[in-house]
Amino acid sequence: VRAPGGTIVIFVLGGPGSGKGTQCSKIVKDFGFVHLSAGDLLREEQQNPNSKDGDLIKTYIKEGLIVPMEITVKLISKKMQESKSNIFLIDGFPRKLDQAEFFCKNVVEPHFILFLDCDKEVMKQRLLKRGETSGRIDDNIETIEKRFKVFKEESLPVIEYFEEKEKVHRIPCTESPDEVYLKIRPLLEGLSK
Ligand code: AP5
Repeated sequence: VRAPGGTIVIFVLGGPGSGKGTQCSKIVKDFGFVHLSAGDLLREEQQNPNSKDGDLIKTYIKEGLIVPMEITVKLISKKMQESKSNIFLIDGFPRKLDQAEFFCKNVVEPHFILFLDCDKEVMKQRLLKRGETSGRIDDNIETIEKRFKVFKEESLPVIEYFEEKEKVHRIPCTESPDEVYLKIRPLLEGLSK
């Protein structure tokens, strides 16, 4: 469903463990935008006993694979329609060209993309550390390696797609969360709810 005029969407993209969720929390605190995390929405749906897609979602996440587009797009669109806000921070989506093209054509063109560009080793160490306490079925070394492979093969082309449209802000993010956020904050200051 096409979003109403005046809707602003910012995609927050980056490899596994680049800090998408961490930075989105900071943005929400300062700006109050609605944060939709594709991964969180899928995990929520997976745990919903009434969902017919739960088992399928679990299999894809455990393997570090991209869940079929229809499921993810449906979850995101539903949340957007239910919200009264007009500024959305969408994290971890689109991760594949078909998702990007579909969303731009049928929902809305993003305002811009924040690409959290992080060194692979740094991301790996962060995820292994988080895996000690997160309980996430994909925070183990085997799945982490698969997630990196999928990111490189399927998600980097999405960044290139938006680079051609001159919509990408590339944010180096190996420094501390606060230092990374200092580079993001000024890009959002002109946007009002
Ligand atoms: P998703 O949940 O999106 O996982 P991901 O992309 O692998 O990213 P993470 O959530 O693991 O990391 P993050 O970048 O948010 O980093 P965080 O802030 O947590 O997706 C999971 C799965 O769901 C996918 O593999 C796929 O199966 C499915 N899926 C998701 N989206 C989909 C889509 N669009 N279509 C289809 N399927 C989809 O930080 C990580 C850790 O590092 C934390 O412990 C944090 O405290 C720490 N940290 C963060 N920043 C810093 C910093 N600057 N310095 C030091 N530590 C830091």
